[in-house]
Amino acid sequence: MKLFVTISLFIFTIIIISVLTVGLLNYNPVLKTNTILSSDNNDNYKLTSPNTDKNTVITITDSNKPTVQNSTITLDMIEIAKHNTANDCWIYISGNVYNLSGFSDSHSGGPNAILPYCGADGSNAFDTKNGRGGHSGNAKQILNSFLIDPLNSTVDKTKINGGN
Ligand code: HEM
Repeated sequence: MKLFVTISLFIFTIIIISVLTVGLLNYNPVLKTNTILSSDNNDNYKLTSPNTDKNTVITITDSNKPTVQNSTITLDMIEIAKHNTANDCWIYISGNVYNLSGFSDSHSGGPNAILPYCGADGSNAFDTKNGRGGHSGNAKQILNSFLIDPLNSTVDKTKINGGN
């Protein structure tokens, strides 16, 4: 009788341990098949396991991921406003963005005509020479040689010479 109880207890213990082990292994949703790894553009990764009851979604932020240097720039008014000195001078004129860094010293109308518009909208000032009438065709050609791109374009930083 004593032997029978001992063997029964032993078998019972084995069964309990087996059940617990199988339960623990199945508990980890990452081990399930059909787990989907997806990511957005903000360094966030999602593991979606369709096998779980609640369609669990785990978000992992990978802090060890190397930082990717942003090599493009958007030519909006916020960006233009950062370039507001004689040697780093971007001006918005009638739909386009111009990099006039260093140009003001060679301007026929003098540097002071241009400098207030570095980092700003110079459309009306250029069109009217601040009330003196329009610039010549030659002036417009020179202006064109400083064109970066139209407002709100996204450009590669290598396209921009001078200024940063
Ligand atoms: C954005 C503001 C600007 C203002 C307020 C301005 C104003 C003036 C003024 C007052 C003159 C002298 C006109 C005269 O004495 O009769 C002038 C001439 C001139 N400017 Fe500007 N300017 C501006 C931008 C530019 C730019 C961006 C360029 C070219 C990149 C340019 C090119 C010239 C040229 C070539 C002349 C000689 C006259 C002509 O060809 O029209 N200016 N400007």
